[in-house]
Amino acid sequence: PAKTEDFVASAIPAGVFAETVTSVQHYTDRLFRFRMTRPESFRFRSGEFAMIGLMVGDKPVYRAYSIASPSWDEELEFFSIKVPDGPLTSHLQQIKPGDTVLMRKKPTGTLVLDALTPGKRLYMFSTGTGIAPFASLIRDPETYEKFDEVILTHTCREVAELKYGFDLVEEIRNHEFLAEVVGNKLRHYATVTREDYPFQGRITDLIRNGKMFSDLGVPHFDPAVDRGMICGSSAMLKETKALLEEAGLIEGANNKPGEFVIERAFVD
Ligand code: A2P
Repeated sequence: PAKTEDFVASAIPAGVFAETVTSVQHYTDRLFRFRMTRPESFRFRSGEFAMIGLMVGDKPVYRAYSIASPSWDEELEFFSIKVPDGPLTSHLQQIKPGDTVLMRKKPTGTLVLDALTPGKRLYMFSTGTGIAPFASLIRDPETYEKFDEVILTHTCREVAELKYGFDLVEEIRNHEFLAEVVGNKLRHYATVTREDYPFQGRITDLIRNGKMFSDLGVPHFDPAVDRGMICGSSAMLKETKALLEEAGLIEGANNKPGEFVIERAFVD
């Protein structure tokens, strides 16, 4: 006779990883992060994304998620939005430690160091959960081998939404080996658009009016030394890309490294 385990095993689609949630942290009513076990055979480059899913009824539902943990981490971390009627996130936001999350086997993505030509200063422009691939890259020692200065910008509507980024940078500064590797190369520039805060405004506006450069004490974009990575909504990608192109930076890809890269996988 069939045992319960047989039923559960057969309910999980073949050819995908079924991993166990190890921790869940809710930041606001719109944002949470979770960590889960990492299959031993699963390899990825920091900054890549994977298809993450859950069984909803008898069907798997998947969405593209940036892996927020670095490639050396023994667990996998994800930073997610909660969409009230979202086909996946309305269920994913309910997960608890011990639950099973599905992951397709092949990671991919363009926000990787290999897609950039050598430079001195690396900008990572993010809005909302767009910080996730950079959460991976700023914890990867290779980022600091390749760049002298790493500037992570994160813009959210509200201050509470910045917490994931602040915790992350704090974790790096207190980390036993990362702290030394990172030194003072990492800068975190956090701004909000819908609340009072010392740093206010969309990153695109702060680039246009020069405030980002003066706040950071760096010169305007220079294609000879500056590199960029962009992750956010489609409107944010488009506008930020235009600003980098105006400054003379050329978009790159995995098969043709350039001066900046964009992740289009999450766009609407
Ligand atoms: P705003 O509050 O002015 O819309 P969301 O939570 O909707 O994804 O937005 C995250 C952040 O991205 C918000 O601070 C939002 O600002 C900002 N944002 C929205 N559209 C753009 C854009 N076209 N360029 C730059 N930032 C944007």
